[in-house]
Amino acid sequence: MGPSFKEISKRYGQSERAVETVAKLIIKPKPENWPGMAYMPPYDIPYDEAKALARYVLIESIKNLSSQNKTEDSIEDILDDDAQFH
Ligand code: HEM
Repeated sequence: MGPSFKEISKRYGQSERAVETVAKLIIKPKPENWPGMAYMPPYDIPYDEAKALARYVLIESIKNLSSQNKTEDSIEDILDDDAQFH
């Protein structure tokens, strides 16, 4: 349904400012940022929790991708992670 975390991370970066921007988008998504995709449901959660999720989307999920790439025959060899969805 939604863009891959890698794509989101590429678009916004990994700065503290990016974490704050994306946290606000998790609480109140802006579907116009991703034309052609479905609408993400808004999450009525505290800002601190949204920031923790944003940190995962922008930073932690990317770390997981690079460590997977080190293993032989990883799923990343088969799947194009830019084409993945969340
Ligand atoms: C903890 C759960 C989730 C997190 C952390 C999350 C995170 C994000 C983020 C950061 C974006 C980019 C927002 C932007 O650039 O404006 C996004 C977009 C999107 N997400 Fe999610 N998402 C979650 C759950 C979901 C669910 C449950 C769905 C659908 C059932 C969904 C569908 C989408 C779609 C369609 C987009 C692109 C269009 C839009 O922003 O409305 N997401 N999501």
